[in-house]
Amino acid sequence: MARTIRWGILGTGGIARAFAQALRDTPDARLVAVGSRTFASAHAFADEFAGGFAGDSGIAACQSYEALVTMPEVDIVYVATPHTVHAQNALLALEAGKPVLCEKPFAMNLREAEAVVALARSRGLFLMEAMWTRFMPALAEVRRIVDAGEIGEVALVQADFGFAATRDPAHRVNRRELGGGALLDLGIYPLSIAMALLGPVESVRAQASMGPTGVDLGTGFTMLHRGGTMSVSNCSLRARTPCELSISGELGSIRMESMFHMARAISVTAADGSTRRVATPFLGNGYVHEAMAAGDALRAGLPEHSLMTHAETLAGMGVLDEIRAQIGLRYDADGAAGPVSRVRCR
Ligand SMILES: NC(=O)c1ccc[n+]([C@@H]2O[C@H](COP(=O)([O-])OP(=O)(O)OC[C@H]3O[C@@H](n4cnc5c(N)ncnc54)[C@H](OP(=O)(O)O)[C@@H]3O)[C@@H](O)[C@H]2O)c1
Repeated sequence: MARTIRWGILGTGGIARAFAQALRDTPDARLVAVGSRTFASAHAFADEFAGGFAGDSGIAACQSYEALVTMPEVDIVYVATPHTVHAQNALLALEAGKPVLCEKPFAMNLREAEAVVALARSRGLFLMEAMWTRFMPALAEVRRIVDAGEIGEVALVQADFGFAATRDPAHRVNRRELGGGALLDLGIYPLSIAMALLGPVESVRAQASMGPTGVDLGTGFTMLHRGGTMSVSNCSLRARTPCELSISGELGSIRMESMFHMARAISVTAADGSTRRVATPFLGNGYVHEAMAAGDALRAGLPEHSLMTHAETLAGMGVLDEIRAQIGLRYDADGAAGPVSRVRCR
């Protein structure tokens, strides 16, 4: 029988709830503690998710993040706070000797991300960006079909992620000081999956429409990948886009159906126009797959997961920095100089 992984969740917001729900459906996993800035939130969260775990002995409600990361009963900390404090919270957990699964975006910029990765490496602790799409069986099936040569030599990925988000200026997606904007919230999905499918980015070109609160409402970007393949992506906080991904080659194309980042099916279209649909597994609310992957890596004593490596996280952050430099999207974490680009641009 596999060792049970005992999770601690840092933060009590929307994604913390979704992940806690996922842990109920994750084999050999248990939520043992939650940490919040306020005891009331921690307590309410612990009450809400108590029960439903095998061998359940309750969920500890910690009234600070520090208290959570020092609990001996916690095997791994899931960081579920706003973008701006991901690096700080991940560092806190790693300093306390805890492995970390950190929400996307992994950090505000490459400089912050490098500091987190360096600490995990120096301590030999498992660390992973919670880019859950990488662990979806649908993506594995796309890769299998591509590798089998069914759509021929791949040349292009197209992906979009947009919806009509709240216009409430107090919400984190509209607040620059909380890392708001479409790119870091949504654009990161097409960016990450394009890099997963086509490999490292050699150059990127981006344009954005900026909103009244100083964050991007929508960003479009084109990336040239090593070997000459191309991806074309966009994200929006205003437009309800199809949220699909297609990967195309000389012999056909594969579509990850809406919403591509949590696809339950893909369709494959051949050169003659015929299409077949393939249903792919989808456990619980979808976050189960990344929780299982992190648990497996932890049990195996690995410092990183092969499907979302540190190098890939850092490369993605570098591209995000370059896009932000091009569209003029600055955050306090960037300092006076703004986002620093390390990606060549044409
Ligand atoms: N993977 C996904 O599908 C997915 C989906 C949604 C969001 N996310 C990511 O998850 C992160 C959190 O998003 P969310 O939608 O869950 O946000 P949220 O509902 O606002 O919750 C964030 C939580 O972080 C804590 N927090 C710490 N410092 C904070 C601050 N200065 N302001 C507000 N809250 C603070 C709060 O918990 P306490 O008060 O208990 O400390 C709060 O409940 C974001 O980085 C986002 O990109 C990922």
